[in-house]
Amino acid sequence: MYTRENADTFIAERKYLLKEEYRLAYHLMSEFGWMNDPNGFVYYNGEYHMFYQHYPYQPVWGPMHWGHAVSHDLIKWKYLPVALAPDQDYDRDGCFSGSAVERDGKLYLMYTGHLITGPNRELDYSQNQNIAVSDDGIHFEKLASNPVIGSDQIPSGFSQKDFRDPKVFERDGVYYAVLGSNDGRGSGLILLYRSTDLVSWSFSGEIARSDGKLGDNWECPDLFELGGRDVLVMSPQRMPAQGDDYRNLHSTTYMIGHLDIKQSSFQYDRYEPVDCGFDFYAPQTTVDERGRRIIIGWMEAWEQEIPTQLGHYWAGAMTLPREVILQGESLLFKPLEEMKNYRKNAYEASDINLSDIVKDMGVSGDCYELEVVFQADQAKEFGLKLRVHGEEETVLSYQQAEGKFRFNRDKSGIGLGGERRTSVELKDGLLALRIFVDKSSVEVFIQGGEKVMTGRIYPGAESLGIFAYAEGACTMVSFKKWDIS
Ligand code: FRU
Repeated sequence: MYTRENADTFIAERKYLLKEEYRLAYHLMSEFGWMNDPNGFVYYNGEYHMFYQHYPYQPVWGPMHWGHAVSHDLIKWKYLPVALAPDQDYDRDGCFSGSAVERDGKLYLMYTGHLITGPNRELDYSQNQNIAVSDDGIHFEKLASNPVIGSDQIPSGFSQKDFRDPKVFERDGVYYAVLGSNDGRGSGLILLYRSTDLVSWSFSGEIARSDGKLGDNWECPDLFELGGRDVLVMSPQRMPAQGDDYRNLHSTTYMIGHLDIKQSSFQYDRYEPVDCGFDFYAPQTTVDERGRRIIIGWMEAWEQEIPTQLGHYWAGAMTLPREVILQGESLLFKPLEEMKNYRKNAYEASDINLSDIVKDMGVSGDCYELEVVFQADQAKEFGLKLRVHGEEETVLSYQQAEGKFRFNRDKSGIGLGGERRTSVELKDGLLALRIFVDKSSVEVFIQGGEKVMTGRIYPGAESLGIFAYAEGACTMVSFKKWDIS
Protein backbone atom coordinates (compact mmCIF):
# COMPACT_ATOMS: atom_id res chain seq x y z
CA MET A 1 0.00 0.00 0.00
CA TYR A 2 1.55 3.28 -1.11
CA THR A 3 1.14 6.07 1.43
CA ARG A 4 3.24 9.12 2.27
CA GLU A 5 3.99 7.68 5.69
CA ASN A 6 5.19 4.37 4.27
CA ALA A 7 7.44 6.22 1.85
CA ASP A 8 8.93 8.42 4.58
CA THR A 9 9.56 5.47 6.87
CA PHE A 10 11.12 3.46 4.09
CA ILE A 11 13.50 6.30 3.21
CA ALA A 12 14.44 7.02 6.84
CA GLU A 13 15.24 3.38 7.51
CA ARG A 14 17.27 2.81 4.34
CA LYS A 15 19.14 6.10 3.89
CA TYR A 16 22.29 4.70 5.45
CA LEU A 17 22.60 2.44 2.39
CA LEU A 18 23.21 5.35 -0.01
CA LYS A 19 26.58 5.13 -1.67
CA GLU A 20 28.30 8.52 -1.66
CA GLU A 21 30.56 7.93 -4.64
CA TYR A 22 28.61 9.84 -7.29
CA ARG A 23 26.34 11.89 -4.99
CA LEU A 24 26.37 15.54 -6.02
CA ALA A 25 27.54 18.31 -3.69
CA TYR A 26 25.51 21.27 -4.96
CA HIS A 27 22.65 19.84 -6.99
CA LEU A 28 19.31 18.49 -5.83
CA MET A 29 19.18 14.69 -6.06
CA SER A 30 16.75 12.05 -5.06
CA GLU A 31 16.91 11.58 -1.30
CA PHE A 32 16.69 7.84 -1.87
CA GLY A 33 15.50 5.76 -4.80
CA TRP A 34 14.39 7.25 -8.08
CA MET A 35 13.84 10.86 -9.23
CA ASN A 36 12.61 12.23 -12.55
CA ASP A 37 10.87 15.49 -13.52
CA PRO A 38 10.94 18.64 -11.41
CA ASN A 39 7.37 19.38 -10.24
CA GLY A 40 5.64 22.20 -8.41
CA PHE A 41 8.62 24.53 -8.61
CA VAL A 42 7.50 27.63 -6.71
CA TYR A 43 8.64 30.43 -4.41
CA TYR A 44 6.27 30.24 -1.43
CA ASN A 45 6.48 31.81 2.04
CA GLY A 46 10.08 32.92 1.63
CA GLU A 47 11.47 29.63 0.34
CA TYR A 48 11.89 27.86 -2.95
CA HIS A 49 9.99 24.59 -3.10
CA MET A 50 10.89 21.83 -5.47
CA PHE A 51 8.88 18.67 -5.76
CA TYR A 52 9.94 15.82 -7.97
CA GLN A 53 8.71 12.63 -9.58
CA HIS A 54 9.84 10.04 -7.10
CA TYR A 55 9.79 6.29 -6.57
CA PRO A 56 11.41 5.80 -3.19
CA TYR A 57 11.39 2.00 -3.14
CA GLN A 58 13.95 1.33 -5.87
CA PRO A 59 16.25 3.43 -8.06
CA VAL A 60 14.00 2.76 -11.05
CA TRP A 61 10.83 4.39 -12.29
CA GLY A 62 7.73 3.04 -10.51
CA PRO A 63 4.38 4.26 -9.19
CA MET A 64 5.10 7.93 -8.86
CA HIS A 65 5.15 9.85 -5.61
CA TRP A 66 6.09 13.50 -5.21
CA GLY A 67 9.34 14.02 -3.32
CA HIS A 68 9.80 17.46 -1.79
CA ALA A 69 12.70 19.74 -0.91
CA VAL A 70 13.08 23.40 0.07
CA SER A 71 15.89 25.89 -0.32
CA HIS A 72 16.71 29.50 0.44
CA ASP A 73 19.00 29.91 -2.54
CA LEU A 74 18.25 26.99 -4.91
CA ILE A 75 21.71 25.56 -4.31
CA LYS A 76 21.50 23.86 -0.92
CA TRP A 77 18.33 21.86 -0.35
CA LYS A 78 16.59 20.37 2.64
CA TYR A 79 14.35 17.35 2.17
CA LEU A 80 10.80 17.47 3.47
CA PRO A 81 8.34 14.57 3.84
CA VAL A 82 7.02 13.01 0.66
CA ALA A 83 4.20 15.31 -0.48
CA LEU A 84 2.03 12.96 -2.54
CA ALA A 85 1.66 9.20 -2.76
CA PRO A 86 -0.53 7.27 -5.24
CA ASP A 87 -3.12 6.42 -2.61
CA GLN A 88 -6.47 7.23 -4.28
CA ASP A 89 -8.52 5.40 -6.85
CA TYR A 90 -7.99 8.23 -9.36
CA ASP A 91 -4.17 8.25 -9.01
CA ARG A 92 -3.46 4.69 -7.90
CA ASP A 93 -0.81 4.05 -10.57
CA GLY A 94 1.04 7.29 -10.09
CA CYS A 95 0.95 10.95 -9.17
CA PHE A 96 2.49 12.22 -12.38
CA SER A 97 4.00 15.63 -13.08
CA GLY A 98 2.37 18.93 -12.32
CA SER A 99 2.88 22.36 -10.87
CA ALA A 100 2.24 24.61 -7.87
CA VAL A 101 0.50 27.93 -7.38
CA GLU A 102 -0.23 30.03 -4.31
CA ARG A 103 -3.78 31.16 -3.67
CA ASP A 104 -4.91 33.07 -0.55
CA GLY A 105 -1.78 31.99 1.29
CA LYS A 106 -2.31 28.29 0.53
CA LEU A 107 -0.14 26.20 -1.71
CA TYR A 108 -2.01 24.31 -4.43
CA LEU A 109 -0.50 21.41 -6.34
CA MET A 110 -2.07 20.38 -9.62
CA TYR A 111 -0.91 16.99 -10.84
CA THR A 112 -1.82 14.15 -13.16
CA GLY A 113 -3.42 10.99 -11.83
CA HIS A 114 -2.26 7.98 -13.80
CA LEU A 115 -4.41 4.86 -14.13
CA ILE A 116 -3.53 1.59 -15.82
CA THR A 117 -6.67 0.34 -17.52
CA GLY A 118 -5.66 -2.93 -19.18
CA PRO A 119 -3.06 -5.67 -19.48
CA ASN A 120 -0.49 -3.63 -21.44
CA ARG A 121 0.70 -0.88 -19.14
CA GLU A 122 2.53 0.85 -22.03
CA LEU A 123 -0.70 1.22 -24.00
CA ASP A 124 -3.65 0.81 -21.65
CA TYR A 125 -3.88 3.84 -19.39
CA SER A 126 -5.84 6.98 -18.74
CA GLN A 127 -4.89 10.28 -17.11
CA ASN A 128 -6.77 12.96 -15.18
CA GLN A 129 -5.91 16.14 -13.28
CA ASN A 130 -6.08 16.64 -9.52
CA ILE A 131 -5.50 19.24 -6.83
CA ALA A 132 -3.87 18.90 -3.42
CA VAL A 133 -3.78 21.85 -1.00
CA SER A 134 -1.55 22.81 1.92
CA ASP A 135 -1.66 25.49 4.61
CA ASP A 136 1.97 25.07 5.63
CA GLY A 137 3.69 24.06 2.39
CA ILE A 138 4.54 20.65 3.90
CA HIS A 139 1.37 18.61 4.37
CA PHE A 140 -0.97 18.27 1.40
CA GLU A 141 -4.60 17.19 1.28
CA LYS A 142 -6.07 15.94 -1.95
CA LEU A 143 -9.46 17.47 -2.75
CA ALA A 144 -12.52 15.33 -2.15
CA SER A 145 -13.79 16.50 -5.54
CA ASN A 146 -10.78 15.15 -7.47
CA PRO A 147 -10.29 14.66 -10.33
CA VAL A 148 -10.79 18.32 -11.17
CA ILE A 149 -10.38 17.50 -14.87
CA GLY A 150 -11.47 13.99 -15.71
CA SER A 151 -10.42 12.13 -18.82
CA ASP A 152 -14.04 12.60 -19.95
CA GLN A 153 -13.28 16.33 -20.26
CA ILE A 154 -10.86 15.71 -23.14
CA PRO A 155 -12.61 16.80 -26.34
CA SER A 156 -12.58 14.41 -29.27
CA GLY A 157 -9.79 14.83 -31.78
CA PHE A 158 -7.15 14.63 -29.06
CA SER A 159 -5.49 11.64 -27.47
CA GLN A 160 -7.89 10.19 -24.91
CA LYS A 161 -5.03 8.88 -22.77
CA ASP A 162 -1.98 11.16 -23.06
CA PHE A 163 -3.24 14.07 -21.04
CA ARG A 164 -0.72 15.16 -18.48
CA ASP A 165 1.63 17.53 -16.71
CA PRO A 166 -0.56 20.57 -15.95
CA LYS A 167 1.40 23.80 -15.51
CA VAL A 168 -0.79 26.46 -13.94
CA PHE A 169 -0.38 30.19 -14.42
CA GLU A 170 -2.54 33.20 -13.73
CA ARG A 171 -3.52 36.01 -16.08
CA ASP A 172 -5.88 38.82 -15.11
CA GLY A 173 -7.32 36.91 -12.19
CA VAL A 174 -8.00 33.74 -14.18
CA TYR A 175 -6.03 30.51 -13.81
CA TYR A 176 -4.92 28.63 -16.87
CA ALA A 177 -3.32 25.20 -17.16
CA VAL A 178 -1.32 24.02 -20.14
CA LEU A 179 -1.26 20.26 -20.64
CA GLY A 180 0.76 17.98 -22.89
CA SER A 181 -0.98 15.68 -25.36
CA ASN A 182 -1.06 14.58 -28.99
CA ASP A 183 -3.56 14.21 -31.79
CA GLY A 184 -3.38 10.41 -31.88
CA ARG A 185 -1.83 10.59 -35.34
CA GLY A 186 1.80 11.39 -34.54
CA SER A 187 1.79 15.06 -33.59
CA GLY A 188 2.38 16.43 -30.11
CA LEU A 189 0.25 19.33 -28.95
CA ILE A 190 -0.67 21.55 -26.01
CA LEU A 191 -4.15 21.93 -24.53
CA LEU A 192 -5.30 24.93 -22.50
CA TYR A 193 -7.88 24.78 -19.69
CA ARG A 194 -9.19 27.64 -17.57
CA SER A 195 -10.57 28.11 -14.08
CA THR A 196 -11.40 30.92 -11.69
CA ASP A 197 -10.98 28.86 -8.51
CA LEU A 198 -8.52 26.04 -9.39
CA VAL A 199 -11.30 23.53 -8.73
CA SER A 200 -13.71 23.86 -11.61
CA TRP A 201 -11.98 23.76 -15.02
CA SER A 202 -13.19 24.13 -18.58
CA PHE A 203 -11.50 23.44 -21.88
CA SER A 204 -10.26 26.54 -23.73
CA GLY A 205 -8.58 25.07 -26.78
CA GLU A 206 -5.51 23.66 -28.42
CA ILE A 207 -2.81 26.31 -28.35
CA ALA A 208 0.03 24.72 -30.30
CA ARG A 209 0.77 21.59 -32.29
CA SER A 210 3.81 19.96 -33.85
CA ASP A 211 4.69 21.05 -37.38
CA GLY A 212 5.40 17.39 -38.11
CA LYS A 213 9.03 17.56 -37.01
CA LEU A 214 8.45 18.08 -33.32
CA GLY A 215 7.74 14.66 -31.91
CA ASP A 216 4.62 12.53 -31.52
CA ASN A 217 3.72 13.56 -27.98
CA TRP A 218 4.45 16.69 -25.96
CA GLU A 219 5.21 16.51 -22.26
CA CYS A 220 5.69 19.00 -19.46
CA PRO A 221 4.64 22.27 -21.10
CA ASP A 222 5.45 25.54 -19.35
CA LEU A 223 4.13 28.86 -20.61
CA PHE A 224 5.29 32.16 -19.15
CA GLU A 225 5.75 35.83 -19.91
CA LEU A 226 9.22 37.23 -20.30
CA GLY A 227 10.07 40.74 -21.38
CA GLY A 228 6.64 41.32 -22.92
CA ARG A 229 6.74 38.09 -24.91
CA ASP A 230 5.29 34.65 -24.22
CA VAL A 231 7.59 31.68 -24.01
CA LEU A 232 6.54 28.04 -24.35
CA VAL A 233 8.96 25.42 -23.08
CA MET A 234 8.05 21.79 -23.60
CA SER A 235 9.52 18.34 -24.00
CA PRO A 236 8.68 16.59 -27.27
CA GLN A 237 8.94 12.81 -27.27
CA ARG A 238 10.76 11.00 -30.04
CA MET A 239 11.58 14.21 -31.88
CA PRO A 240 13.84 13.39 -34.84
CA ALA A 241 17.30 14.98 -34.79
CA GLN A 242 17.83 18.19 -36.75
CA GLY A 243 21.51 18.49 -37.59
CA ASP A 244 23.40 18.56 -34.29
CA ASP A 245 20.25 19.30 -32.32
CA TYR A 246 17.73 17.00 -30.63
CA ARG A 247 20.04 13.99 -30.57
CA ASN A 248 18.58 12.48 -27.39
CA LEU A 249 15.59 10.13 -27.49
CA HIS A 250 13.35 12.87 -26.06
CA SER A 251 14.17 16.56 -26.28
CA THR A 252 13.34 19.91 -24.77
CA THR A 253 12.60 22.97 -26.81
CA TYR A 254 11.53 26.58 -26.36
CA MET A 255 9.49 28.87 -28.56
CA ILE A 256 9.17 32.63 -28.18
CA GLY A 257 5.88 33.95 -29.44
CA HIS A 258 2.52 35.35 -28.51
CA LEU A 259 -0.28 33.72 -26.56
CA ASP A 260 -3.70 34.96 -27.61
CA ILE A 261 -5.63 33.73 -24.63
CA LYS A 262 -9.05 34.61 -26.09
CA GLN A 263 -8.34 32.67 -29.26
CA SER A 264 -6.47 29.92 -27.39
CA SER A 265 -3.57 30.19 -29.76
CA PHE A 266 0.14 30.45 -29.33
CA GLN A 267 1.97 31.76 -32.40
CA TYR A 268 5.72 31.28 -32.77
CA ASP A 269 8.23 31.48 -35.57
CA ARG A 270 10.95 29.07 -34.58
CA TYR A 271 12.08 26.77 -31.85
CA GLU A 272 15.42 26.14 -30.21
CA PRO A 273 16.78 23.52 -27.85
CA VAL A 274 16.93 24.56 -24.19
CA ASP A 275 20.08 22.50 -23.63
CA CYS A 276 22.41 21.01 -26.23
CA GLY A 277 23.98 18.25 -24.11
CA PHE A 278 23.07 14.69 -23.18
CA ASP A 279 21.04 14.91 -20.00
CA PHE A 280 18.29 17.47 -19.78
CA TYR A 281 14.56 16.84 -19.81
CA ALA A 282 11.16 18.01 -18.60
CA PRO A 283 12.31 21.35 -17.16
CA GLN A 284 10.04 23.57 -15.15
CA THR A 285 10.28 27.30 -14.47
CA THR A 286 9.14 29.63 -11.75
CA VAL A 287 9.42 33.32 -11.05
CA ASP A 288 10.84 34.41 -7.72
CA GLU A 289 10.45 37.44 -5.45
CA ARG A 290 13.09 39.31 -7.40
CA GLY A 291 11.18 38.72 -10.63
CA ARG A 292 13.72 36.29 -12.01
CA ARG A 293 12.48 33.52 -14.29
CA ILE A 294 14.38 30.39 -13.23
CA ILE A 295 14.49 27.03 -14.99
CA ILE A 296 15.56 23.64 -13.62
CA GLY A 297 15.59 20.43 -15.63
CA TRP A 298 15.88 16.75 -14.84
CA MET A 299 19.57 16.00 -15.41
CA GLU A 300 19.01 12.61 -16.99
CA ALA A 301 17.53 11.11 -20.11
CA TRP A 302 14.90 8.40 -20.48
CA GLU A 303 15.47 4.80 -21.35
CA GLN A 304 19.11 4.50 -20.57
CA GLU A 305 20.95 2.93 -17.70
CA ILE A 306 22.13 5.21 -14.94
CA PRO A 307 25.23 3.75 -13.24
CA THR A 308 23.95 4.55 -9.74
CA GLN A 309 20.97 2.27 -10.32
CA LEU A 310 23.24 -0.66 -9.48
CA GLY A 311 24.17 -0.79 -5.84
CA HIS A 312 23.97 2.94 -5.07
CA TYR A 313 20.30 3.10 -4.03
CA TRP A 314 19.58 6.33 -5.88
CA ALA A 315 19.17 7.65 -9.41
CA GLY A 316 18.29 11.06 -10.71
CA ALA A 317 19.28 14.65 -10.17
CA MET A 318 18.26 18.15 -11.16
CA THR A 319 20.38 20.61 -13.13
CA LEU A 320 21.62 23.79 -11.58
CA PRO A 321 18.96 26.50 -11.50
CA ARG A 322 19.42 28.77 -14.51
CA GLU A 323 18.12 32.27 -14.95
CA VAL A 324 16.25 32.69 -18.21
CA ILE A 325 16.89 35.98 -19.99
CA LEU A 326 15.29 37.19 -23.20
CA GLN A 327 17.81 38.61 -25.64
CA GLY A 328 16.31 39.61 -28.95
CA GLU A 329 14.69 36.49 -30.39
CA SER A 330 16.60 34.07 -28.19
CA LEU A 331 16.85 32.99 -24.61
CA LEU A 332 20.03 33.08 -22.57
CA PHE A 333 20.46 30.65 -19.68
CA LYS A 334 22.77 31.83 -16.94
CA PRO A 335 23.88 30.34 -13.63
CA LEU A 336 22.28 32.14 -10.69
CA GLU A 337 24.26 34.84 -8.88
CA GLU A 338 23.88 32.77 -5.70
CA MET A 339 26.40 30.27 -7.06
CA LYS A 340 29.15 32.78 -6.32
CA ASN A 341 28.49 32.44 -2.57
CA TYR A 342 29.83 28.89 -2.72
CA ARG A 343 33.13 29.73 -4.36
CA LYS A 344 36.20 28.71 -2.32
CA ASN A 345 39.94 28.58 -2.95
CA ALA A 346 40.09 30.96 -5.91
CA TYR A 347 42.80 30.24 -8.44
CA GLU A 348 43.58 32.51 -11.36
CA ALA A 349 45.98 32.43 -14.30
CA SER A 350 46.13 34.51 -17.45
CA ASP A 351 47.74 34.78 -20.87
CA ILE A 352 48.76 31.18 -21.19
CA ASN A 353 50.17 30.17 -24.53
CA LEU A 354 48.56 26.86 -25.49
CA SER A 355 49.91 26.59 -29.01
CA ASP A 356 50.25 22.91 -29.90
CA ILE A 357 50.50 21.72 -26.33
CA VAL A 358 48.47 19.86 -23.73
CA LYS A 359 48.95 21.71 -20.47
CA ASP A 360 48.27 20.46 -16.98
CA MET A 361 46.64 23.48 -15.33
CA GLY A 362 48.18 22.50 -12.02
CA VAL A 363 44.83 22.51 -10.20
CA SER A 364 42.35 19.69 -9.83
CA GLY A 365 39.05 18.61 -8.37
CA ASP A 366 35.65 17.04 -8.79
CA CYS A 367 33.45 19.86 -7.41
CA TYR A 368 34.32 23.17 -8.95
CA GLU A 369 33.52 26.07 -11.24
CA LEU A 370 35.74 27.26 -14.07
CA GLU A 371 35.58 30.55 -15.91
CA VAL A 372 37.74 30.35 -18.98
CA VAL A 373 38.30 32.65 -21.96
CA PHE A 374 40.16 31.43 -25.04
CA GLN A 375 41.56 33.58 -27.82
CA ALA A 376 41.19 31.26 -30.78
CA ASP A 377 44.00 32.76 -32.88
CA GLN A 378 44.85 30.29 -35.67
CA ALA A 379 44.04 27.15 -33.71
CA LYS A 380 42.25 24.39 -35.56
CA GLU A 381 40.97 23.06 -32.25
CA PHE A 382 41.32 23.98 -28.60
CA GLY A 383 39.65 23.18 -25.32
CA LEU A 384 39.73 21.58 -21.91
CA LYS A 385 40.07 18.08 -20.58
CA LEU A 386 38.40 17.60 -17.24
CA ARG A 387 38.28 14.76 -14.70
CA VAL A 388 41.55 13.47 -16.17
CA HIS A 389 43.50 10.46 -14.93
CA GLY A 390 45.22 7.79 -17.01
CA GLU A 391 42.95 7.12 -19.96
CA GLU A 392 39.99 8.94 -18.44
CA GLU A 393 39.02 12.40 -19.60
CA THR A 394 35.96 14.47 -20.46
CA VAL A 395 36.71 16.73 -23.40
CA LEU A 396 35.16 20.13 -24.10
CA SER A 397 36.51 21.48 -27.34
CA TYR A 398 36.00 24.02 -30.09
CA GLN A 399 36.70 23.38 -33.78
CA GLN A 400 37.26 26.72 -35.39
CA ALA A 401 36.64 25.91 -39.07
CA GLU A 402 33.29 24.28 -38.32
CA GLY A 403 32.37 26.76 -35.60
CA LYS A 404 31.36 23.84 -33.38
CA PHE A 405 31.66 23.28 -29.68
CA ARG A 406 31.79 19.65 -28.56
CA PHE A 407 31.20 17.80 -25.33
CA ASN A 408 32.75 14.35 -25.57
CA ARG A 409 32.30 11.77 -22.82
CA ASP A 410 33.62 8.70 -24.63
CA LYS A 411 36.43 8.37 -22.09
CA SER A 412 34.65 9.85 -19.09
CA GLY A 413 34.48 6.65 -17.02
CA ILE A 414 31.66 4.18 -16.57
CA GLY A 415 28.24 4.92 -18.03
CA LEU A 416 27.28 6.01 -21.49
CA GLY A 417 29.76 7.76 -23.77
CA GLY A 418 28.99 9.82 -26.84
CA GLU A 419 29.42 13.31 -28.14
CA ARG A 420 27.12 16.28 -28.52
CA ARG A 421 27.92 19.26 -30.73
CA THR A 422 26.52 22.71 -31.11
CA SER A 423 27.26 25.71 -33.30
CA VAL A 424 28.92 28.57 -31.45
CA GLU A 425 30.19 31.83 -32.86
CA LEU A 426 33.37 33.35 -31.51
CA LYS A 427 33.07 36.97 -30.33
CA ASP A 428 36.07 38.98 -31.52
CA GLY A 429 37.92 35.68 -31.71
CA LEU A 430 37.05 34.79 -28.11
CA LEU A 431 35.27 31.82 -26.60
CA ALA A 432 34.00 32.29 -23.02
CA LEU A 433 32.98 29.30 -20.92
CA ARG A 434 31.57 28.85 -17.44
CA ILE A 435 31.73 25.25 -16.39
CA PHE A 436 30.30 23.54 -13.33
CA VAL A 437 31.61 20.14 -12.38
CA ASP A 438 29.93 18.31 -9.53
CA LYS A 439 31.05 14.70 -8.90
CA SER A 440 28.98 13.10 -11.66
CA SER A 441 27.82 16.12 -13.68
CA VAL A 442 29.19 18.72 -16.07
CA GLU A 443 27.30 21.85 -17.15
CA VAL A 444 28.86 24.18 -19.67
CA PHE A 445 27.52 27.71 -20.20
CA ILE A 446 28.89 28.93 -23.51
CA GLN A 447 29.28 32.59 -24.56
CA GLY A 448 27.32 34.05 -21.67
CA GLY A 449 24.58 31.42 -21.77
CA GLU A 450 23.81 31.47 -25.50
CA LYS A 451 24.13 27.70 -25.37
CA VAL A 452 24.26 25.27 -22.48
CA MET A 453 25.43 21.66 -22.56
CA THR A 454 24.69 19.30 -19.71
CA GLY A 455 25.87 15.76 -19.18
CA ARG A 456 26.33 13.15 -16.49
CA ILE A 457 29.71 11.46 -16.24
CA TYR A 458 30.95 8.73 -13.90
CA PRO A 459 34.73 8.94 -13.66
CA GLY A 460 36.94 7.21 -11.12
CA ALA A 461 37.52 9.02 -7.83
CA GLU A 462 41.14 9.67 -8.79
CA SER A 463 40.19 11.39 -12.08
CA LEU A 464 40.65 14.95 -10.93
CA GLY A 465 43.04 16.52 -13.44
CA ILE A 466 42.31 19.68 -15.43
CA PHE A 467 44.17 20.19 -18.71
CA ALA A 468 43.97 22.70 -21.54
CA TYR A 469 45.15 22.10 -25.07
CA ALA A 470 45.27 23.50 -28.57
CA GLU A 471 46.16 22.33 -32.04
CA GLY A 472 47.65 25.42 -33.66
CA ALA A 473 48.23 28.85 -32.15
CA CYS A 474 45.89 29.69 -29.26
CA THR A 475 45.97 31.67 -26.03
CA MET A 476 44.04 31.10 -22.86
CA VAL A 477 43.31 34.72 -21.99
CA SER A 478 42.11 33.87 -18.53
CA PHE A 479 41.51 30.81 -16.40
CA LYS A 480 39.71 31.00 -13.07
CA LYS A 481 38.81 28.12 -10.83
CA TRP A 482 36.90 27.91 -7.58
CA ASP A 483 36.10 24.87 -5.55
CA ILE A 484 32.39 24.76 -4.84
CA SER A 485 31.28 23.48 -1.49
C1 FRU B 1 8.19 13.23 -18.34
C2 FRU B 1 7.09 12.33 -17.84
C3 FRU B 1 5.80 13.11 -17.66
C4 FRU B 1 5.06 12.30 -16.65
C5 FRU B 1 6.17 11.82 -15.76
C6 FRU B 1 5.94 10.47 -15.19
O1 FRU B 1 9.48 12.81 -18.02
O2 FRU B 1 6.92 11.24 -18.72
O3 FRU B 1 5.11 13.31 -18.87
O4 FRU B 1 4.12 13.06 -15.97
O5 FRU B 1 7.35 11.80 -16.54
O6 FRU B 1 6.92 10.15 -14.24
